[in-house]
Amino acid sequence: MCGIVGLVSDSEISIKEDLLKSLKRLEYRGYDSVGCADTKGNVEKDVGEISKFMEQIKDSKASCAISHTRWATHGGVTKTNSHPHWDCKKKLFIVHNGIIDNYQEIKNELIDKDHVFVTQTDSEVISHFLEEELKSKNMVEAIKSFIKRIHGTYAILIIEKDNNTIYAIKKDSPLVLGLAKDRFYLASDIYAFSDATNKAIFFEDEEFAIVDSNKYNFYDSDGKEIKKEIYEFAWDLYQEESVQNYPHYMIKEIHEQPTASQRLINSLDGEQNAKIKNIAELIKNSKSVVFTAAGSSYYASLLGIYFLNRIGINAQTLIASEFHNFMLVDKDTLFIAISQSGETMDVVSATKWAKERGAKIVSIVNVPHSTLQRMSDISLEIHAGPEICVAATKTFTNQVVALLYLSSLLGFTVNMQTIPGKIDYVIKENEDIVRDIADGLCDKKDIYILGRGLCYPPSREIALKLKEISYIHAEGMMGGELKHGTIALIEEGTPVIALIPGKDYDMYSNAKEVEARGAKIITMANMMDSDFKIDVTINDGKFAILSVIIGQLLTYYIALKKNLPIDKPRNLAKSVTVK
Ligand code: G6P
Repeated sequence: MCGIVGLVSDSEISIKEDLLKSLKRLEYRGYDSVGCADTKGNVEKDVGEISKFMEQIKDSKASCAISHTRWATHGGVTKTNSHPHWDCKKKLFIVHNGIIDNYQEIKNELIDKDHVFVTQTDSEVISHFLEEELKSKNMVEAIKSFIKRIHGTYAILIIEKDNNTIYAIKKDSPLVLGLAKDRFYLASDIYAFSDATNKAIFFEDEEFAIVDSNKYNFYDSDGKEIKKEIYEFAWDLYQEESVQNYPHYMIKEIHEQPTASQRLINSLDGEQNAKIKNIAELIKNSKSVVFTAAGSSYYASLLGIYFLNRIGINAQTLIASEFHNFMLVDKDTLFIAISQSGETMDVVSATKWAKERGAKIVSIVNVPHSTLQRMSDISLEIHAGPEICVAATKTFTNQVVALLYLSSLLGFTVNMQTIPGKIDYVIKENEDIVRDIADGLCDKKDIYILGRGLCYPPSREIALKLKEISYIHAEGMMGGELKHGTIALIEEGTPVIALIPGKDYDMYSNAKEVEARGAKIITMANMMDSDFKIDVTINDGKFAILSVIIGQLLTYYIALKKNLPIDKPRNLAKSVTVK
């Protein structure tokens, strides 16, 4: 899973200033290692992030080059396993996003034909397979054999020494051609070149293209040339990309939540109003309503289910990677996928699966023109602006705001207009208290978060934040479920955060049960005595948003104290583009 960028131009481009700068815009797809190769035969690669790599290497110029930022799947995070990979003669270079399922079988066959492999990756078979095919075929024929023989997911860029042409192939992993004034880009998504052009051509599965500095040609898997439409996209960056005066994107993005939620509410009242009303109508008239998502977006979807069920609308949600195993859909199903990036492979696959079964597809995304948005019948945008920190903060909040708005159109009681102000108040009121409490939690190994009903999804989202950013094992649990096992893990001093909206006496009792066994209780409440003050109307949904925001702050200050890489935590990627 990774990000790839290729550039081909009639004049020479700078590897650092043009190619790697563009690649950096895809770093959200992974940052284990980075590499590039050009058609002069120069290759550079190393473990670590792109900015460090850019300091390390000398700039060079070329007319045609490819690059890769990696999130390791097959083969450890080493320089050798970094992309690009090459053939035995080091004349052909490839970068790959995806997974080659039958790589071991192909690799064995190629080893029998005397190919020498130097990496532990699945991707290296691509260069050797093509090298073998090219012994008796031209590149078009070799690519046709590749598509027939190779199983798995792939967006691949191929270059050959002394030939200023990029060959690009796609199946399941996204790939797009960007048409700029003096150059062509080939990239995992339009974000790689959205500062240079708004014209793009999206690859469909099993299509390939041959691109040189003057022209591009697209082909289907049989090698038949095909006509493709140029897509012109609008792109608004909200001027929010730099970290400004904040030490980290995470804290900047937490503080942006009042503005980001207001922007969304304005858009739902304004230009997206007809769209959201249309979705509400579809919900009202559908036989079944199912949501899917991954990570934080899944917890937002759980809240969506809670809001809809409260007003008598039967809706369900399921984690995208398991959707096809546990859910049924048909042509009468309304399928709603939620994804910040719109690129998460599990979500895209579940959506594809539902679409094939005739379901109506709605998506709620942050990144416009994403794969998920383009697959949808209707797509709502949450207008959170670019979110750079790997952990979702403002995008989670805006997903919940969108779902609250949608539910309010169907009868759920909530005053949307007060949300941005309440967020602002809760941050101001609690930030210092959070910092103090964080100091006392830094050395803890485990934290449990308990919530019931409306507060169950927040308990899961807060636990996810604590795990991914502060590296503390955390479990978000249904308050009532704790005593059915997990309570055995409570020891003297184990921190337990209890989310208690209103006079939720059952939740209060669950907190007392663990306190009686030595747990150190921290509460978020609005009517009971509490460590964190959340002053909102009970149960209208805002408590869920606000408790998560306190959880975000808590996570941030624990990670800060522990001196952790807050915006780019180890082993993670912002968008997971493999299954
Ligand atoms: C990754 C990220 C999470 C995110 C999840 C779903 O795991 O690290 O922060 O919630 O993907 O991403 P999506 O873009 O589909 O919302």
